Amino acid sequence: MQFRAVKGMNDILPGDSSRWHRLESTFREIAALHGFGEVRTPLMEPTELFVRSIGESTDVVGKEMYTLERGKKSLTVRPEGTAGAARAYVEHTVYAREPVTRWFYIGPMFRAEKPARGRYRQFFQAGCEIYGDPGPACDAELIDMLCVFFRRLGVPDVRVAINSIGGAGTRAAYRERLVSYLTPHAGSLSADSQRRLETNPLRVLDSKAPADQEIVAGAPSILDVLADADREHFDEFQAQLTALGTPFDVEPGLVRGLDYYNRTLFEVRSNAGDLGAQNTIAGGGRYDGMVKSLGGPDTPAIGFAMGLERILLALGDADEPTVALTVVVPIGVAATRRALSVAQQLRQAGLVADCDGRDKSMKAKLRRANSLGARACIVIGEDELGRGVVQLKDFQGGSQVEVATQDVAQAVSKLLDGASA
Ligand code: HAM
Repeated sequence: MQFRAVKGMNDILPGDSSRWHRLESTFREIAALHGFGEVRTPLMEPTELFVRSIGESTDVVGKEMYTLERGKKSLTVRPEGTAGAARAYVEHTVYAREPVTRWFYIGPMFRAEKPARGRYRQFFQAGCEIYGDPGPACDAELIDMLCVFFRRLGVPDVRVAINSIGGAGTRAAYRERLVSYLTPHAGSLSADSQRRLETNPLRVLDSKAPADQEIVAGAPSILDVLADADREHFDEFQAQLTALGTPFDVEPGLVRGLDYYNRTLFEVRSNAGDLGAQNTIAGGGRYDGMVKSLGGPDTPAIGFAMGLERILLALGDADEPTVALTVVVPIGVAATRRALSVAQQLRQAGLVADCDGRDKSMKAKLRRANSLGARACIVIGEDELGRGVVQLKDFQGGSQVEVATQDVAQAVSKLLDGASA
């Protein structure tokens, strides 16, 4: 008798595990830089925990949980990490010891979904959760952290989509508008969407059925009915992302498959490496009501989780995908000091930088940069030093632009992102 692994659950053999290690250790490094500590919760939780937090009408709870009955107890193998982490946060009264808590986790999750490329029944997530900070600064920080992580790994073609679904008041007002828009089209909607129109109308926006998508395209936008406080939060969140130089798209139709969210929602997608429809490599948002609903005090929270298999697929077969090199070329001793801190700024943003501090001509340094295969070069002469700027040379496109010193990392990432798009 020969056995096979359960469908949708994969073995990871030694040849592959080094790629996993690189992913996990890079995530641990970045999580530590942002002050996150690791939490390890059990693989099984009381079924009721997921029903109550994720929501009865979601696909995850309604169709995808692996549940077993043991005597009078119903246990479920975790379909995600947020509910268990919040349960632990409340159980250990962590809120009584610290005003803000930052946790991360890495581990397997289980959902009885139809297996496909990038969609499995056991899959690994790496996630972060922040409790006690209403944002929007931490909303922006989490997205920036994800972008730095993907850049450092070399995941190509990364796009961030954001939305706000406001608080309960906003959602009630929007639900009414949406239902009155969808009801006349009900007959043409897919069976799933007809059911969701009754149970959870916002989820209709997420339907992948082609007939639904046409109808959904004309739906009213939730952003038009955001309550004032929700609008302020969303505006400030965007302003902070812009200040960080993190590109994003606002997608008013973005809703996510879990019921616990309010206000900020986001997804990160990559079209690289043949991911197909499963191109969402990370997703998250705010869930300010969960801690209270699990018996803790009123505590705002936000987090994300990434699908590690999908990230590996996006990376493709390259063993060590590399971020293109940028060489910093200073002319003179004073400029060399500035150049070192520019190189440091680039590395902190997950970019690969080399600083050529040799006492050589600019020509010689540019020749070396070229021979190293650098994608870009940053030249700092005396004039630039005095004016607080640098010259950014794009070796591939041949262009040269002047950039303020503090915006260098932003400008280089934009140049590199443009290259991979
Ligand atoms: P989620 O969108 O359900 O959110 O999952 C997050 C990520 O896990 C997805 O973007 C995807 O990359 C990956 N993923 C989900 N299902 C599968 C699957 N069947 N196979 C492979 N990868 C998958 C959550 O789980 C939330 N707990 C995220 C969060 C944390 N929100 C707040 N804090």
